[in-house]
Amino acid sequence: MEWKTSVTELLGCKYPILQGAIAQLGNWEFAACVARAGAHGTITASVSGTPEKLREHIRECRKATAGSPGSFGVNLSIGITPRIEELLEVCIEEKVHVETSVFKPDALVPGIKAGGLTWIHKAARVKDALHAQELGPDAIILVGLEGAGIKNPEQLPTMTTIIWGRKQIKVPLIAAGGIGDAHGFLAARGMGADGIMMGSAFLATQECPIKESIKEAIIKLSPDNPELRQRVMVPGPPRRPTDDPSEPREPDFSRAVSFATGVIDHIPTVQELVDSIIHGAEQILDSWQFLKTR
Ligand SMILES: Cc1cc2nc3c(=O)[nH]c(=O)nc-3n(C[C@H](O)[C@H](O)[C@H](O)COP(=O)(O)O)c2cc1C
Repeated sequence: MEWKTSVTELLGCKYPILQGAIAQLGNWEFAACVARAGAHGTITASVSGTPEKLREHIRECRKATAGSPGSFGVNLSIGITPRIEELLEVCIEEKVHVETSVFKPDALVPGIKAGGLTWIHKAARVKDALHAQELGPDAIILVGLEGAGIKNPEQLPTMTTIIWGRKQIKVPLIAAGGIGDAHGFLAARGMGADGIMMGSAFLATQECPIKESIKEAIIKLSPDNPELRQRVMVPGPPRRPTDDPSEPREPDFSRAVSFATGVIDHIPTVQELVDSIIHGAEQILDSWQFLKTR
């Protein structure tokens, strides 16, 4: 079955599945794994750190993914990535897709547009997505309450966010927030999204550069874990893991995941994760064939 959508057309990947930015982890090697699996990988610019390193990482990733069925881009997390204008300059020179996120992208847009880049903006509220839409993005990612990452205290559940957002967003829409398997993928497509983005589900893959013990802890977590539920559903003001000096030097990423933990029950390779979503979705659709006889 072909999974061509406006998102695969825009990004040049086989499947409409994007890997989310991951602070402190989202390096080029992982983005390349995702692209080789047919999805869209993301180099988190804050992980590269400096413009020089980012340029090197984009080039390495390009070499490592030449001829692969997927694609990759760079995430610029506004408000938390130091030297963001310089990092954007590198993206323009290297002509790579960019994704902006976290806060308003207005200041970066003139540069992105002048550079002729494919640009996606990630927002947590429909109103922020609509603000960004006025600036002319090629696609929008909406992350619902169930998702991980920096949360917005006004975030609404993924279903409400996507269905409501779809009514108003005119560009390709990518759904995120608690998605980690074929059911979530098809649900997002059913709600009108042209693709999905996942962060937590990619954390618990074999290639993800975190300790095995953390991956094991993630697969044991479920969405009704009181601490997880509190963190996901009642977000406080935006903060980064490193904002708190009392936190351990190596953050416990099992504390940063989302409600996608409900479907994360083993540690597949990135390829296995992507394939399980695509093949699982095909099986579900096949099981619905009877609907066509009506
Ligand atoms: C450990 C972790 C770190 C993240 N860091 C960032 C970040 O630096 N910038 C960003 O835009 N999103 C970040 N995210 C959010 C993801 O890119 C994605 O939007 C989110 O994980 C989607 O929800 P899901 O985890 O339910 O799939 C992070 C997510 C996780 C799990």
